[in-house]
Amino acid sequence: MALPVITIDGPAGAGKSTVAKRVATSLGLTYLDTGAMYRAVTLLAQRTGVDVNDDLLLKRLAEDISLKLTGGRVYLNGEDVSEDIRKPEVSDKVSFVARQRSVREIMTKLQREMASNGGVVLDGRDMGSVVFPSADYKIFLTASVEERARRRHAELEQKGIIVSFDEVKHNIIARDKIDSEREVAPLRVPEGAYILDTTGLTIDEVVQEIVRKCRID
Ligand code: DC
Repeated sequence: MALPVITIDGPAGAGKSTVAKRVATSLGLTYLDTGAMYRAVTLLAQRTGVDVNDDLLLKRLAEDISLKLTGGRVYLNGEDVSEDIRKPEVSDKVSFVARQRSVREIMTKLQREMASNGGVVLDGRDMGSVVFPSADYKIFLTASVEERARRRHAELEQKGIIVSFDEVKHNIIARDKIDSEREVAPLRVPEGAYILDTTGLTIDEVVQEIVRKCRID
């Protein structure tokens, strides 16, 4: 088999990025965080005063953007924005940007280019359903809302970003709703995906299970 494409989709806080990173390392593949791409467009919109609901202006921004995901960092027009794109003000607005059809079309094209040689693990919401429907392995990670909020809260705290647990939980519920109800590429379980509920599982257990799945099939 040529170098595989592995997609990992699921709701906010299901542990996708941590798991996808580790799966990529275990299998010697490259990890691509596609949520970071939508976050970078959102950050640029905020910095330039573009309304996150303005499809036309967002399209212009996204068309001209230079995005690089390399070495675990995210570069927006050459600037390392890895920390800025995780801030609550971006998290609060990113779902609005991600529901715009034109932005999704541009990001989908970029994602396909980035994965054109295979050998990648991509995490997102529509990787297995829309962007790579014929991926070699499709995983759908999920967990209870409480558990996802707990993980996100701990992750933010570790980065020194102070927000209340309720605020994080509220953000996750709100994003789930927008991500699953949007018209274009809504969050759903891709056809043929392996569904893994990670509630109560450790990261090691989840990683091992996915690596096993991708090696055996
Ligand atoms: O995974 P994350 O929290 O960094 O994702 C940020 C937002 O981007 C999330 O609200 C949904 C959206 N997203 C998307 O619509 N499609 C993707 N492939 C990845 C993320």
